[in-house]
Amino acid sequence: MANTILVGAQWGDEGKGKIIDVLAERSDYVVRTAGGNNAGHTVFIGPQKYVLHLVPSGILWPGKKCVIGNGVVVDPVSLVEEIEGLQALGVKVDGNLFLSECAHVVLPYHRLLDEQRELRKGRQKIGTTKRGIGPAYGDKAARVGIRMVDLINPPRFEALLRQRLRENNAVLRALGARPLSFARVHAAYRAAGDRLRPFVTSTVMLLHEATRRGANILFEGAQGTFLDIDHGTYPYVTSSNTTAGGACTGSGVPPNKIDHVYGVMKAYTTRVGEGPLPTENAAIADLLHGMGREFGATTGRPRRCGWADTVVTRHAVMVNGIDRLAITNVDGLDTVETLKVCIGYRHGDRRYDYVPADAAVLAECEPVYAEFPGWRTPTGHIREWRKLPAPCRAYLKALAELSNTRLAMVSVGPARDQTIFL
Ligand code: IMP
Repeated sequence: MANTILVGAQWGDEGKGKIIDVLAERSDYVVRTAGGNNAGHTVFIGPQKYVLHLVPSGILWPGKKCVIGNGVVVDPVSLVEEIEGLQALGVKVDGNLFLSECAHVVLPYHRLLDEQRELRKGRQKIGTTKRGIGPAYGDKAARVGIRMVDLINPPRFEALLRQRLRENNAVLRALGARPLSFARVHAAYRAAGDRLRPFVTSTVMLLHEATRRGANILFEGAQGTFLDIDHGTYPYVTSSNTTAGGACTGSGVPPNKIDHVYGVMKAYTTRVGEGPLPTENAAIADLLHGMGREFGATTGRPRRCGWADTVVTRHAVMVNGIDRLAITNVDGLDTVETLKVCIGYRHGDRRYDYVPADAAVLAECEPVYAEFPGWRTPTGHIREWRKLPAPCRAYLKALAELSNTRLAMVSVGPARDQTIFL
């Protein structure tokens, strides 16, 4: 399948887990390169539902090698729980999972600081997953982070943790939060480090060797383009590069080894957390929530919902180099009479055909819509492009054309086989 980066073209939750699972079948390696356990990838295999937070979803295919790259921030306690949960379901993890020695460790003070910062922001809060992601990447950038290579070296971990807790406990006290006990944190994280030691390796060398042998690598994106720390709706973003470039820096695989970039979008738009969402619409949110859809996989929060926005997806195609588009959750729109698609924004006298960088401006943008007739018939059982209702094909083609890319895949339900290749 060649080396492929897969990214979300919206605000995360595009249904990437399912598309990654389908593409993983044709890959030898599946690599996570950014984010942490703020992500939640849901995969259904038969009646069994798997929600993965850190382990690449390729693990569900026997024999696939899965890598957690250097760009990921890892909460070791939560990773151990995830591994044990997978093993309890009969998934083979040992020998198939590799964890970068350079990945930064998320510690309890990161989670507490995340919570405190959100509390202090009040109405301006970001609506984070409270998994400590921002503070962990903050420590990485400030060069005071603890990496996996430190965690699995007991004397070094003990010394670093002592030092880091001294500073972070002073900050927590100043913010009015309870300080953490060294003994408790040390015991839990030391034990998790011991459990993870066999997985820790130089994933850069592992992947270099794999590319030299001509193995197929799939880089599974987490979150989405507009949650990217550089290209997203700052400050309402996560703290990593969720766009295609992040796959290279987060794995050590260079750009000239990448063949394709898959973008995944929903047939409509959703967002969890705060920040602008120009096409937000209460009726479509009621419809989808009423169907039991669009509740967050990590936090269970109801997602905000809106019409498809091709200003957003066109921008995503541009910054990621998306050459293949997968559109998911098409069946979610099966009952809608008339579909709206945003094709531009109006802000005062100005028109935008790209996403303005200022979140305050974006929040004030009025969408300019084109309308499409709905198909008003179930699509979940359809397995061939030509069997989709004509208005559905026209709608999906229009989404790809307006986004400036080529439609490659359509998903009409959560199961592996509810996938149509073009
Ligand atoms: P953080 O990544 O926990 O710091 O959260 C920052 C923003 O990114 C919040 O709006 C979250 O709701 C959002 N976010 C983080 N991870 C995901 C995800 O996997 N899907 C959707 N939104 C996410």
